[in-house]
Amino acid sequence: MINRIALLTSGGDAPGMNAAVRAVVRTASSCNIEVIGVRRGFAGLIEGDSRTLGPRDVANIIQRGGTILLSARSKDFLSREGRARAAENLHLWDVDGLVIIGGDGSFHGGQRLLDEFSIPVIGIPGTIDNDLFGSDFTIGYDTAVETALSAIDKLRDTAASHERIFVVEVMGRNAGFIALDVAVAGGAEEVLIPEAPVPIDSVIETVQESLRKGKTSSIIVVAEGVDGGALQVRQAIEQATGHEVRATILGHIQRGGTPTAADRILASRLGEAAVKALVEGRSGVMVGIVNGNVHHTALPLTWERRKEVNPHLYACAKTLSI
Ligand code: F6P
Repeated sequence: MINRIALLTSGGDAPGMNAAVRAVVRTASSCNIEVIGVRRGFAGLIEGDSRTLGPRDVANIIQRGGTILLSARSKDFLSREGRARAAENLHLWDVDGLVIIGGDGSFHGGQRLLDEFSIPVIGIPGTIDNDLFGSDFTIGYDTAVETALSAIDKLRDTAASHERIFVVEVMGRNAGFIALDVAVAGGAEEVLIPEAPVPIDSVIETVQESLRKGKTSSIIVVAEGVDGGALQVRQAIEQATGHEVRATILGHIQRGGTPTAADRILASRLGEAAVKALVEGRSGVMVGIVNGNVHHTALPLTWERRKEVNPHLYACAKTLSI
């Protein structure tokens, strides 16, 4: 029987986290379950920084980026002593489970609480990187793609006006999901992702070929996980071609903003599914959506199994960039 649960957001914030918080609180309330909202992720869990959340406390947040619960990357939680303090608070609050909205680092932490202190844990995939196995999409990814794309559309105007090459770096840690999507949607001339390393000489050859074909401007999308990032790619192309090249690192702009409808819907479904999973007696799983349906994946699998980028989309990006 579940009477009370704790809820936190952890790691990098992602648009749609608030929609997930709202969904967890309201689903719990409809099942007569009390929710303790923990502030600043595992850091707040260690410090006991929390307050009860009811349905009215999560009004008017579905459209807001960021997370009302705040987020952090806690160093103290890396030690067993820190985790013991976190578990102590959970016992003190008399909670029957913990819902964690975050990425793989946050799930590692949740698995530790389960293994070491038998705390029932459910994960909700909240990261713009989309790099968790067990869900076709993670909360925040769709919004991040839209944000990066709109930036690339603007850069293309300047690239065309000044007949320049732009190297644009997008986020994604070690994954190329955002890069590949915006490359196809933004009509990029080249896309570099960690999943398909390309020698710099071949990138230079692509650029030279574009110039020979009469292209006066180009957009090259680079995922942040690619060795050297946009700055090195820029330098190499400029040196080899003598052409003017600019590098733009989009950075944290991709983490903020109003979540898209797709992210709000995903977050709402997963928030509901997380509470239901606890009620059904599940623990140590991430809730995700696979082919339109709710799926439960053991937490360790979400980071151990690599989620592959779509090879057809990668091939498509290459074909269309001629
Ligand atoms: O995991 C999300 C992410 O935005 C990655 O794409 C990026 O590498 C990292 O977080 C940046 O983290 P921080 O907020 O610590 O700068």
